Amino acid sequence: MLFRDNRGHLGLLAEACAHRRASLVYGIPENEGLRCAYHGWLYNAEGRCLDQPGEPAASTFKNQIKTTAYPVQELGGLIFSYLGPEPVPLLPRYNVLVWDDVAGETNGTVIPCNWLQVMENLLDPLHVECLHGRYFTYVLKGKGGDQLQEFLARHAPSPMKKVRFDLFEHGIIERHMINNEEDESWRTGAPSFFPTTSLLGSPGGKSGSIIFVAPIDDTHTWFLLHMASRVSQLAAQESIPFFDVPGVDEAGKFITDTANGQDHMAVVSQGNITGRDLEHLGTSDQGIILYRELLLEQMERVERGEEPMNVYRDPAKNHIIDLPAITPDGRI
Ligand code: FES
Ligand SMILES: [Fe+2]
Repeated sequence: MLFRDNRGHLGLLAEACAHRRASLVYGIPENEGLRCAYHGWLYNAEGRCLDQPGEPAASTFKNQIKTTAYPVQELGGLIFSYLGPEPVPLLPRYNVLVWDDVAGETNGTVIPCNWLQVMENLLDPLHVECLHGRYFTYVLKGKGGDQLQEFLARHAPSPMKKVRFDLFEHGIIERHMINNEEDESWRTGAPSFFPTTSLLGSPGGKSGSIIFVAPIDDTHTWFLLHMASRVSQLAAQESIPFFDVPGVDEAGKFITDTANGQDHMAVVSQGNITGRDLEHLGTSDQGIILYRELLLEQMERVERGEEPMNVYRDPAKNHIIDLPAITPDGRI
């Protein structure tokens, strides 16, 4: 339960009140924290209980109560929380989150499947030509009308001449070439910062995007795309619009005539947690294979008591995390 107290501090508490489990979603924000609507227990952002109106004034019972609470931080107009073991690391300062004077928006979709399927879709450029090209054409043909001509003329994905994946210090860079070596998708590529963040844009560019693949639980994932453009001070925003992008239509059917809807259909249709023992990976699945190797390697590190990749503790290394300026032939 995320709340902001009347002094502006953010807190994230377990939803059920520690007294008799009423939902704190209906709580009352006060100066010191959030007060439960049912019997009025008051919690601060650290989860400590500060007041219990029903107990005798001299009671120290409240001092024994601490509900689950997580640290919360704002960056770039978004609110982040850390749910892992202590000590709490630094919040990674990705470029689009630390630029001054930006205008942006965030889109989000809750996808009813495991996060790894969503992440693997990002490392699978081959699907673009089929799912967002051949299949898109098939769907539009079936619908009739003039959408198909418009799609074929303007939006159909061009074939990729080359695809490659490079490991870098933060994860994996996916590259594909449509025209030549100067393509941004080849020179800069799409870097995935292990485990679940990707940056899009060009080094030194005026705009960029960040994708967060946020696991909600084992079978639900929040896919978030935040886009930001550097603008003049006057055009900077007070708040960032958020759009909930549906994955299915009102009847609960997959939306197959948008690229987002097609991705949603593909990953959800793989099953809640897809049976990887039943797959048959080919040479074109190298991004997925590389990511799984990285995942296993990082899990082994954690088992040995070491920290995984991209845990930031040194503020000097976390000033701004930018797109890696490494071209496929190693030029900086
Ligand atoms: S259930 Fe919250 S104060 Fe009683
Ligand atoms: Fe896609």
